[in-house]
Amino acid sequence: MDKLTIENLFARRSVRRFGDAPVAPEQIDRLLQAAMAAPSAGNRQPWHFIVVTDAATRAQLADTSPYAGMVAQAPLCIVPCGEPALSIAGRTDFWIQDLSAATENILLAAVGLGLGAVWCGVYPLPERASAARGILGIPDEIVPFAYLAIGHPAEHPEPRTRYHPARVHHERW
Ligand SMILES: Cc1cc2nc3c(=O)[nH]c(=O)nc-3n(C[C@H](O)[C@H](O)[C@H](O)COP(=O)(O)O)c2cc1C
Repeated sequence: MDKLTIENLFARRSVRRFGDAPVAPEQIDRLLQAAMAAPSAGNRQPWHFIVVTDAATRAQLADTSPYAGMVAQAPLCIVPCGEPALSIAGRTDFWIQDLSAATENILLAAVGLGLGAVWCGVYPLPERASAARGILGIPDEIVPFAYLAIGHPAEHPEPRTRYHPARVHHERW
């Protein structure tokens, strides 16, 4: 049984270079299990996940952002998507936090599985969302949130924290 430790959390770094080996289906399943274990406001779980391994599709996605070239190189791209209508009525913006929590869970699970990953931003940029919608056939009411490029790491950034005491406020600001 894999166990998430504080060390995994410090070891989570953005990995932008990957080997060619595919991510095993059981590992993909584990990543998605981790995603859907995330907390969500009112436990609404307003998420969907598109699993993309096809190289031509990944190349198209990579072209939608100047900062997402890794999506073409990594063997796997998971695209977390939000469905705001599933969120708490009148407070639908909570979907953004829900999707952030699920996304971070995928990144942490990747560390636990010995994989590398990087979060490439899509939301809140409308031009990236619309490009992703076109490529992946995402309906208008669903919001593509990010591209997660995932694979076997070909680089190993150092674990670390960015602890900054000045950002900690005791008892009051
Ligand atoms: C919302 C968000 C969007 C990001 N978008 C990109 C991106 O488009 N391309 C990229 O290479 N990294 C992206 N990153 C990764 C950050 O650059 C990275 O997390 C940051 O530099 C800290 O490095 P670390 O992840 O190794 O700790 C994004 C991270 C977040 C949280």
